[in-house]
Amino acid sequence: MLPYGKQTIGQDDIEAVLEVLKSDWLTTGPKVGEFESAFASVTGSDYAVAVSSGTAALHTAMFGAGIGSHVGDEVIVPGITFVASANAAIYLGAKPVFADVDPETLLIDPADVRRKITPRTKAIVSMDYGGQPCDYAALRAIADEHNLILIADACHSLGASVGEDEAAQPSGSLADFNCFSLHPIKQITSGEGGMVTTNQSDAATKMRSFRNHGISTDFVQRQELKQHQYAMESLGFNYRLTDIQCALGLSQLEKLHRFTRRRNDIARFYNSLLADVPHAEPLQVRQGVKSSYHLFVIKWNSEATGVSRDEAFKLMREREIGVNVHYQPVYQHPFYVQVFGDQSGCCPQAERVYNEILSLPIFPDMVEEDVRRVVRELQNVASANTPKLKVA
Ligand SMILES: Cc1ncc(COP(=O)(O)O)c(C=O)c1O
Repeated sequence: MLPYGKQTIGQDDIEAVLEVLKSDWLTTGPKVGEFESAFASVTGSDYAVAVSSGTAALHTAMFGAGIGSHVGDEVIVPGITFVASANAAIYLGAKPVFADVDPETLLIDPADVRRKITPRTKAIVSMDYGGQPCDYAALRAIADEHNLILIADACHSLGASVGEDEAAQPSGSLADFNCFSLHPIKQITSGEGGMVTTNQSDAATKMRSFRNHGISTDFVQRQELKQHQYAMESLGFNYRLTDIQCALGLSQLEKLHRFTRRRNDIARFYNSLLADVPHAEPLQVRQGVKSSYHLFVIKWNSEATGVSRDEAFKLMREREIGVNVHYQPVYQHPFYVQVFGDQSGCCPQAERVYNEILSLPIFPDMVEEDVRRVVRELQNVASANTPKLKVA
């Protein structure tokens, strides 16, 4: 099966991990700070806080932003995203309120964000779907106007930017808090892992404590202070990222630009081949934006082919092509229906486009023949009900 995503691990990554395994520090050691500094630098942010997953990053960022400090706090979240973007608000006692997405990009629609604001709204969570940054100029204007915090779920967009070259504003610098995942399917990996970036010094301190049970000093700091006492100042978690993971993350980070270039090359090749395939339309990338191409998503035209998206998914899988679907509207999941009731119709575009989207394989080690094969099979699947389209 050609997977829809896959990590690229080199000998340098293996050696970086081995070095830590032979050292004195498997966790809370020097690699954590090194990784955080390098990450902050790559993302153009002042502070980076390493945590154990992207989900932990969202939880930690929302804690840092003070979400849930008032009963009834609401957080606006895109209707189509991974469940963790919304779950993190619930962890803190806040309520996710869903805003619709633009059907051409699947990015949160600023106009619907405006409509969903109430006196209880505390933050807007954007999600850089597929790897392209949202319309942060519009979201920032809304946030400033209503005194809201802007939190980017940037789990898809490490390596992406608004603008290119000298003028590029990297993902990680676009919102007040920016959350990344370092899961193997993502742009770079630390096995499992996450990172929050921010320019707010106080929030960074609060988040470092949160990832360490709410204790303000860590083991190394206490050793330096020759002190055994510690104070737990808030209810935190063990969300630490180990030195082993940080060494892998650091080594991978050095290759981020190469990986991003490669993903962009693959996307360009898909676009050129799909120009002749009218029933599989790639999602649009906004002008002036560089995508990290975490995902390559098409809209499948079931009417033209007589093959539903779900059938196309099944037929592609039968042909050993690991397609996927990102994502079902969050509020349709049973937990959300049980807790918040039936919210059908709250994001009509998200509900419609969910039935059309299909993620095609994309990862740095893919070769051109893989891309050709995926497109060939897409054409064969389309012709399942219309034999005249069949490609030899
Ligand atoms: C948009 C989005 N948010 C959050 C997450 C959660 O990240 P993790 O799996 O590292 O907890 C993911 C990971 O799949 C994601 O794609």
